[in-house]
Amino acid sequence: MSLLATRELTIRFGGHVAVDAVTCAFEPGTLTAIVGPNGAGKTTYFNLISGQLKANSGTVTLDGKDLSGSSPSARTRAGLGRSFQLTNLFPRLTVLENVRLAVQATRGGRHRRGLNLWSIWSDHSELLARARQILDDVAMAGKADELVANLPHGDQRKLEVALLTAVEAKVFMFDEPTAGMNAAEAPVILDLIRKLKADRSKTILLVEHKMDVVRELADRIVVLHNGALVADGEPAEVIASPIVQEAYLGVTAQTASVEDGTPPTPTLPSRGGLEKP
Ligand SMILES: Nc1ncnc2c1ncn2[C@@H]1O[C@H](COP(=O)(O)OP(=O)(O)OP(=O)(O)O)[C@@H](O)[C@H]1O
Ligand SMILES: [Mg+2]
Repeated sequence: MSLLATRELTIRFGGHVAVDAVTCAFEPGTLTAIVGPNGAGKTTYFNLISGQLKANSGTVTLDGKDLSGSSPSARTRAGLGRSFQLTNLFPRLTVLENVRLAVQATRGGRHRRGLNLWSIWSDHSELLARARQILDDVAMAGKADELVANLPHGDQRKLEVALLTAVEAKVFMFDEPTAGMNAAEAPVILDLIRKLKADRSKTILLVEHKMDVVRELADRIVVLHNGALVADGEPAEVIASPIVQEAYLGVTAQTASVEDGTPPTPTLPSRGGLEKP
């Protein structure tokens, strides 16, 4: 059974169709890279799945359940996780407190059983232990007590990803997770994605411009162009497909010949690629 599926998912902004009747299913245990030029509709597609944007038509289903009318938080509870925006961080709280709140929010009222101080205390220490574990996973344990407002940009991005793992989702959507990170920070995030992938029950969607990352991590590539799904399949196949060759000519010409063992590291849907509509 397909875990996550969109059917004819469509949104228009004025006269512009940003996501155009996208029908696609994502299986548990697979990582699908979603690529396409700037303005192709990748982020908008994620926003439609997570409920940040409401589709004009079409459906989003998770495990057969129609979530099209659900709020973003209902979708999160149903198992859809997505990269938190930086605005979702609490800048005046510490790193640890931010993660603890995310863990707590996901667990909802499950742990509250009346005003029992022992149970409140044990819940609290369990949440803190889980939060510390998550920080450990993104190599941020040493920054647990720092105020989020004082963190460098790269650490804030890492924290966003940490929060995403805190919600114990079934579906993970990463939108250019290493954008703006330096060479030391990016591998930590990629490692985290690898770990999620190793847990064969997760469904992972990754928007990524860096083709070396896509090539390493993706089981499948979906190409969006002008809001429409124009290619879908095995990474090598998709990269070599005429539509991608044509759309990214010059850039893909290099990526298509990566089998020779010395891959360049082009960015497939590069800013120098197709014009934004
Ligand atoms: N809230 C909005 N209002 C109006 N137009 C929007 C809105 N959000 C996105 N768009 C437009 O929809 C199209 C798709 O944008 P989107 O951000 O999804 O592209 P993208 O594939 O994520 O691009 P990038 O690779 O640059 O992140 C663009 O033309 C964009 O200008
Ligand atoms: Mg985007």
